[in-house]
Amino acid sequence: MNDTMQDLSLHILDIAENAIAAGAKNINISVIEEVSQDILRLEIADDGRGMTEDETKDSVDPFVTTKPTRDVGLGLPLLKDAARVANGKLEICSVPGAGTTVKASFQHSHIDRKPLGSMVDTITALVTGCQDLNIVFVHEREGRRFVFDTKEIREELAGSSLQCAKALSVIRGYLIQEESSLSH
Ligand SMILES: Nc1ncnc2c1ncn2[C@@H]1O[C@H](COP(=O)(O)OP(=O)(O)O)[C@@H](O)[C@H]1O
Ligand SMILES: [Mg+2]
Repeated sequence: MNDTMQDLSLHILDIAENAIAAGAKNINISVIEEVSQDILRLEIADDGRGMTEDETKDSVDPFVTTKPTRDVGLGLPLLKDAARVANGKLEICSVPGAGTTVKASFQHSHIDRKPLGSMVDTITALVTGCQDLNIVFVHEREGRRFVFDTKEIREELAGSSLQCAKALSVIRGYLIQEESSLSH
């Protein structure tokens, strides 16, 4: 498999795009770094159309696709592989008509564990790309917790669009500040 995704943040963007393609209105993303236990956990939960048990099994199989060619995507198989090589695993819980939760775990210190990369870019891309999407992003690291919620941002901006230039620079600034305070 040709894996061009160097950062976990790009995998997260890709998995969130599946949720958007599945008609989700709400996406909850969490990045939990339990450094003392040497675990990194990712969770992407959506309220999209969900999958049956068979569809869920097929979704992580790189050789099964509902599309005529599967030359793009491979999102879930690649994330599964990224977790596997770092002593972790991928789990998918999906309920047709209700939504999907994708969980990936990694050994935090593993040499082959991909770096998190820029969650600022991933969240900004999701906010920019999708008008009515509610996104909650939680990042926890060693007891510190940061929550970004588009609903709160919308209230603060008193009705103006999240996609306007001013809103995006506020959102970006906020994410940059919080993400950098977590890494120090
Ligand atoms: N969040 C989701 N909700 C519903 N279906 C999903 C979701 N994520 C993945 N799927 C299904 O699994 C398939 C495989 O996803 P993925 O590995 O990302 O490849 P691709 O997006 O290129 O098809 C998707 O085409 C879709 O049918
Ligand atoms: Mg995909």
